[in-house]
Amino acid sequence: MSLLPYALARPFLFGLDPETAHELTMASLARTQGTPLSLAYFSAPVKDPVELAGLTFPNRVGLAAGLDKNARCIDGLAAMGFGFVEVGTVTPLAQPGNPKPRMFRITEAQALINRLGFNNDGLDAFLANVQRARFCHKKVGDRALLGLNIGKNAATPIGNAVDDYLICLDGVYPHADYVTVNISSPNTQNLRALQSDEALDALLGRIAERREALASKHGKRVPIFVKIAPDLDDAQIEVIAATLKRHAMDGVVATNTTLSRDAVKGMRHAEEAGG
Ligand SMILES: Cc1cc2nc3c(=O)[nH]c(=O)nc-3n(C[C@H](O)[C@H](O)[C@H](O)COP(=O)(O)O)c2cc1C
Repeated sequence: MSLLPYALARPFLFGLDPETAHELTMASLARTQGTPLSLAYFSAPVKDPVELAGLTFPNRVGLAAGLDKNARCIDGLAAMGFGFVEVGTVTPLAQPGNPKPRMFRITEAQALINRLGFNNDGLDAFLANVQRARFCHKKVGDRALLGLNIGKNAATPIGNAVDDYLICLDGVYPHADYVTVNISSPNTQNLRALQSDEALDALLGRIAERREALASKHGKRVPIFVKIAPDLDDAQIEVIAATLKRHAMDGVVATNTTLSRDAVKGMRHAEEAGG
């Protein structure tokens, strides 16, 4: 069990603006990971293996993408006992994301609205951090699985999105236990349009083709998951499922953040844009 009870840390963190609290937490993790101070948050992983897409997840509780967008804290996060740690979303080039403020707590609903917009340091910095992590030098089986989550730059026209995904796929492929193709953030203009019929077919066709080439080059077939939005109707889900199968994708990550405000209606910040 962790030595640092969340109940003690929470009042301090909630006294800060949400993004400052986030940055402070990540900076503390980055500084203490791999040192004796990491005992403050160490938690032995529960052994409850789950098989999925040819992977054995040590347990079924993992960390979703977006907390560690630059893959700075893989060792610190893995020390907490997760069955998988997914980092990113990374884009080919660094970008600042949307103007601040862009994260809003709705404490009474235990909710958060964010419109960060893929703020990240870009693919090169991301890969340098991944390779620096001690975690990546451990054998699969002795550690959590590592998911690397890829996206597109805001400045790339949606018609050229596939180029960004392929650049990122080439970069992350040799380092990932699995890759997540994020086409469902509500905070990058038109990104969710990639979930629609023809656009998804074209995108996944190119990704599947590139995966074959990368599998030969690196001698391993890395599972690819597609991350979808929660705001889809049944007909859209059926089309997406059929398209994923057609291109031999290994699964979905369900789901990204919602645009719905039903659960927070009338509360302060409920009308902020974001997921
Ligand atoms: C502040 C914040 C940032 C996020 N950033 C990303 C991101 O960069 N990429 C991504 O795929 N999902 C991102 N997400 C979505 C989460 O990975 C997750 O899918 C979503 O929060 C739903 O899971 P939950 O119900 O456990 O919160 C973000 C979520 C939050 C709250």
